[in-house]
Amino acid sequence: MSEVIYSESLTDQNLRGKVVVLTGGAQGIGAATVKLLHSKGAHVFFGDWDEAKGLALQQSLTDSSSSSSSGSGSGGSATFRRVDVRNHDQQLALFDDALSAHKNIDVAIQCAGVVEPGGWFEPKDLNLDTVRTDPVPLRENIEINLTSVLLFSRMALAYLSSSSSTSSSSESKSSSFSKSIVLTSSIAGITEAPGLFAYSSAKHGVVGTMRALRRFGPEKYGVRANVICPWATDTQILAGVKAAWEKQRMPMNTPEDVAKMILQCAADEKVNGRAVFVAGGRGYDTEEGIDRTLPEWLGKENAQVFLKGQEILGLGGDWVNK
Ligand SMILES: NC(=O)c1ccc[n+]([C@@H]2O[C@H](COP(=O)([O-])OP(=O)(O)OC[C@H]3O[C@@H](n4cnc5c(N)ncnc54)[C@H](O)[C@@H]3O)[C@@H](O)[C@H]2O)c1
Repeated sequence: MSEVIYSESLTDQNLRGKVVVLTGGAQGIGAATVKLLHSKGAHVFFGDWDEAKGLALQQSLTDSSSSSSSGSGSGGSATFRRVDVRNHDQQLALFDDALSAHKNIDVAIQCAGVVEPGGWFEPKDLNLDTVRTDPVPLRENIEINLTSVLLFSRMALAYLSSSSSTSSSSESKSSSFSKSIVLTSSIAGITEAPGLFAYSSAKHGVVGTMRALRRFGPEKYGVRANVICPWATDTQILAGVKAAWEKQRMPMNTPEDVAKMILQCAADEKVNGRAVFVAGGRGYDTEEGIDRTLPEWLGKENAQVFLKGQEILGLGGDWVNK
């Protein structure tokens, strides 16, 4: 399993002056990512449906920039917009904010996500009467955790490829940088997640979105794609199981640990097509192992034929209905 190592110097060098669009930035992992990007001198346009927390973060970062003694600030900026990611136009407006301010977008990061409400799958809740109720909260969960992510990725391809990188900007000193999308899935997107039905389905889908993009994005748009798969991370999402986790001294990420992996994927032009499992503050690419052991889990002959089939499909141009 290959470890993904966070590089302070690479992220400093490659993210300074870069323009970043991010969803789910008002708290938790998203907020930690906004703060870290801002400290590196990036211009972050972040959206969230929690307006109070989003505006408070924008204010505190703006205050910290202006209170630092002249010239010593990071040079970064943070701009908030209220966005419900289920709303296509609101996600678009976030990209438009960034593009109209800087004529360019370099990185698109999706962090917005919610756990699902319980009560839809337990035998005590599910019978021939209750099954007649359309489980709208489960549909909404999929809409937030998967549908909006697919739409966000589609927008990112269009906006990121419509302008050239800020490497020509006087602010940016990066010598080797390429644009990218960083999505946030979960360990629940790689393995089973007890009690999480819609969430797990959606998070597997987010890994699928990254896989759909990992060849297609770089070849057709010059945009890389990676996905972060955190294990337990100390945010409000974990509240229900935090005590049990801590009692057993299980590994726990801080939101900043996960933010560092997001920045590493954004900054390193060599990183593409990875699913970075983050546990106890360290990141490991699970895709490398899955690809390398293909003959073991698919069978040697199947693997050979499968890879030939992938070659025939290429980037999929003949596959989809036109
Ligand atoms: N905390 C963990 O243990 C953990 C583990 C694996 C994956 N994740 C994933 O990490 C991401 C960040 O989660 P977190 O732990 O920081 O939780 P969090 O609740 O602290 O942050 C999620 C953010 O997304 C925002 N959001 C939710 N729905 C939205 C919507 N419809 N429109 C706009 N904004 C919306 C929330 O307001 C919040 O600011 C999520 O995608 C989550 O599924 C978290």
